[in-house]
Amino acid sequence: MNKLRMAFIGVGDMGSHHCIGFDLIPECKVNYICDMNQANVERTLAELKNDNPVIVSDYKELLNKEDIDAVVISVPNYLHREVAVAFLEAGKHVFLEKPVAHSLEDCDAIIEAAEKNERLLQIGLVYRYSNVYRRMAEELQRNRLGEVKLMWCKEFRDPFPPTDWFYDKKKSGGTLVEKDCHHFDIFNWMIGSRPTRVFASGGQHVMKQGQQNRITNSYSHYPAKVIEDVSIVDHAWVTIDYENGSKANLGLCMYLKPRNLMGDGLEIGLIGENGGQMVARNDKTIDIVGGVDFTRDHLDIDVTSDSIMGGHTGGQTQRMAFVKSVREGGDPFASAYVGREALLIALAAEKSIMEERYVYLNEFTR
Ligand SMILES: NC(=O)c1ccc[n+]([C@@H]2O[C@H](COP(=O)([O-])OP(=O)(O)OC[C@H]3O[C@@H](n4cnc5c(N)ncnc54)[C@H](O)[C@@H]3O)[C@@H](O)[C@H]2O)c1
Repeated sequence: MNKLRMAFIGVGDMGSHHCIGFDLIPECKVNYICDMNQANVERTLAELKNDNPVIVSDYKELLNKEDIDAVVISVPNYLHREVAVAFLEAGKHVFLEKPVAHSLEDCDAIIEAAEKNERLLQIGLVYRYSNVYRRMAEELQRNRLGEVKLMWCKEFRDPFPPTDWFYDKKKSGGTLVEKDCHHFDIFNWMIGSRPTRVFASGGQHVMKQGQQNRITNSYSHYPAKVIEDVSIVDHAWVTIDYENGSKANLGLCMYLKPRNLMGDGLEIGLIGENGGQMVARNDKTIDIVGGVDFTRDHLDIDVTSDSIMGGHTGGQTQRMAFVKSVREGGDPFASAYVGREALLIALAAEKSIMEERYVYLNEFTR
């Protein structure tokens, strides 16, 4: 079978992982890398085990290349529309990092380009491919909790990487768009109903607009940096109501130093109508307790086989699923549609913070 010939647009923190991961898949060939940041290109090249890609600095040079079947786009959010639409119009399949875009208008333009050109569009909602959250969904299908009525996500962490675009709401869409589209998607997936309204409260406790914010981050390769132009929130509480009466809540803190040392990391919890609870901790374990059979299970999940180099659980499974979808057709599990649903909640939450009111999702029309 011919190899899937690929190009990588943006090889910063995320794009480098994608390039290294696809290079390890035997049915793929990394033909091109496009990034104007030479240091990021060199970091990526140093990790490739198989292929020897051509390097360019302007993605437009790649649009008409015949030896590209699919592109992986990992550029900052405000560039998603420009780059994704260009490649979809050029007839390439696209793996696009989350969020689909930083605005609904851009998101819909990308979806329209994919539909019009009948190209595959998979979004980097990596949790959908994670052994942990797939197991959680399986346990729900086995009716361990009955219908999920309450959900929460607690993410108390260190700041985004010290790179300016994250901190500029016009470029990232804001903290809840950039980061929590992942968590809103998990809520939608597990609850299995449509969100109707969102109320959020958030602001700037520590990283404040106009002050000398020295940003450090525990996982990125970028060195610490002072960033003054900070237009995003550094904390929030977000409540979401669903059509079926279920409710979800996200608690977010982005200013822990040096990172979350409590050891519990990300926590995603559910309570079912049968009075049982299920909690995933640290993207690694699941506890299921209570309910009609007074169950008490602790599950240590294998989060090595679905990732590479200690990267995000689900990271490599999502890449293999992309290759399979390009070959065999069918909608990806992380489709543009589920990406759009998660984005709607995030945009509603950002709006709710600004306008200090419930925001109804039907205020956003297509
Ligand atoms: N799925 C996840 O868990 C996850 C995690 C981190 C980031 N992301 C997403 O990945 C994307 C990139 O984030 P990151 O952390 O890698 O950011 P980053 O700033 O580290 O990397 C962005 C890269 O894009 C390059 N770039 C900018 N404009 C370009 C252009 N026009 N053409 C080619 N390259 C260009 C930059 O030089 C840089 O190397 C964002 O959409 C982000 O939300 C997803």
